[in-house]
Amino acid sequence: MKILLLGASGQLGQTLIPYLEQAGDLVTSARQGADEGLDLAHRGQASALIKKLAPDVIVNAAAYTQVEQAEQESEQAFAINRDGVAEVADAARAVGARLIHFSTDFVFDGRAAPYSETDTPAPLNVYGQSKLEGEQAISTSGCHHWIFRTSWVYNFKGNNFFNTMLRLAAERDALQVINDQRGTPTWTHTIARVVRRSLAEKGLADGIYHLCDDGSSSWYDFAREIFRLNGVPIKLTPIGQDAWPSKVERPADSRLITEKLQAALGWQPQSWQESLAECVAMKRETAGNA
Ligand SMILES: NC(=O)c1ccc[n+]([C@@H]2O[C@H](COP(=O)([O-])OP(=O)(O)OC[C@H]3O[C@@H](n4cnc5c(N)ncnc54)[C@H](OP(=O)(O)O)[C@@H]3O)[C@@H](O)[C@H]2O)c1
Repeated sequence: MKILLLGASGQLGQTLIPYLEQAGDLVTSARQGADEGLDLAHRGQASALIKKLAPDVIVNAAAYTQVEQAEQESEQAFAINRDGVAEVADAARAVGARLIHFSTDFVFDGRAAPYSETDTPAPLNVYGQSKLEGEQAISTSGCHHWIFRTSWVYNFKGNNFFNTMLRLAAERDALQVINDQRGTPTWTHTIARVVRRSLAEKGLADGIYHLCDDGSSSWYDFAREIFRLNGVPIKLTPIGQDAWPSKVERPADSRLITEKLQAALGWQPQSWQESLAECVAMKRETAGNA
């Protein structure tokens, strides 16, 4: 099986590499530092690469992910998350490849959680809208696809809440963290394990699946557990999102129901606390080996 990974430099892309290497012959692509250079905002590059390589599977971990900045850079967000994805999906159909794509809890407005795949999306911000239109482009393209909607993604490497908290704690004695937005922290390895399993089992039907760790938390709960597991003493104060200076509206409750994927794959998600503990253990092991 020939697999093409897009977005190999991102936090999810980096995690996926060893899993995909086990699953087949992997070619990585990214704007820089991968087997193949690819800018999804540059029309024609993705289709040329996909037609040249003719992979059996395309895993798209590339996306415009800067939620705040997207409000000012909406053209760029749509160029990557909608138009770039549409080009990938069309090329996947042309070469007969299966497309594995990732979307977000931010397609929902947060007023009717928990959400299943049949609930109607209503994004509150540009990022969410651009990701939703990417999903729609895939669904209408006619390519074989699995779209995994996930939430609050982190690992001990990469740009994410986990690392932001630890960086801020190294600079300050006290932190205020939002306590009235709920969702589910999801470790990149949870996603990569499901991708590996989906590829191995082969029978998963085309469509959208919600994929996240089990349970839910606020950002404050998540931060508290990050500091506890990392042994970082810090004074944490819960605050409301109204007290946080942000230019962008986010869903207040974006919990996702994962029963469809559980039933289809016979998969049981572990709790977000278990995943976080595994992540911290892996971080320690990696630091110990360095
Ligand atoms: N992070 C979250 O909390 C979260 C939550 C729900 C869903 N998701 C979804 O999960 C997927 C993976 O996200 P992530 O957390 O791994 O994000 P990430 O760490 O920001 O990685 C995004 C990747 O996309 C690449 N990229 C950005 N613009 C590109 C372009 N024009 N052409 C080619 N590549 C481009 C980046 O490359 P560079 O290194 O060159 O910038 C990077 O490799 C995305 O689909 C995201 O929407 C993420």
